Amino acid sequence: MGVIDLGKIAVYPGTFDPVTYGHIHVIKRAARIFDKLIVAVATDNYKNNMFSSEERLELIKKTCLPDINNLEVATFSGLLVDYLRSVDCGIVVRGLRAISDFEMEMQIAAVNKKICSSIETVFLMTDPEYSCISSTIIRNVAEIGGDLSNFVPPAVSEALNKKYLEKTSRV
Ligand code: COA
Repeated sequence: MGVIDLGKIAVYPGTFDPVTYGHIHVIKRAARIFDKLIVAVATDNYKNNMFSSEERLELIKKTCLPDINNLEVATFSGLLVDYLRSVDCGIVVRGLRAISDFEMEMQIAAVNKKICSSIETVFLMTDPEYSCISSTIIRNVAEIGGDLSNFVPPAVSEALNKKYLEKTSRV
């Protein structure tokens, strides 16, 4: 498969259902390393997502774009490698929260490299403050009405509360 030149653009892909302070910390740090960072929201619904891809994209825009000027936010579907080709980017950024993330991340990086050998994956260690969180845990805390202020920005917290309010009013 074709070689993608390593430039100074990187893609940070994920589901971001929803984006958390943990993701945002990785986004801010990666944006300092690369000339341009594209946060790429996966639209394929293999996780039965709570937020639509447009909503997930909007929440990232709302919470990150005002502060980071070399950031782009986009959606992608299908193979990550194909998306990387379409934006002429050869670097993937991923966050590592704990040793338990390592095995899966190594597998994903290896598969991407097998598909396109010039792709490099750069791992950033998640800040210990955020290493315990995941989007699923955040959604669970929101569902039982817990305080989200340590985990997500206010816009995300409002969006979660709205979703659960809609859900309970439908029952
Ligand atoms: N802070 C907080 N939470 C974090 C985090 C951080 N720094 N990093 C990861 N997480 C959480 C996420 O919220 C997510 O939680 P959830 O499972 O409860 O939703 C979980 O960790 C896993 O997220 P992430 O590691 O970002 O993976 P993902 O499942 O969101 O996205 C894709 C994976 C989309 C990048 C990957 O599946 C992909 O590239 N798919 C395209 C198809 C493809 O190319 N396949 C071949 C290669 S596998």
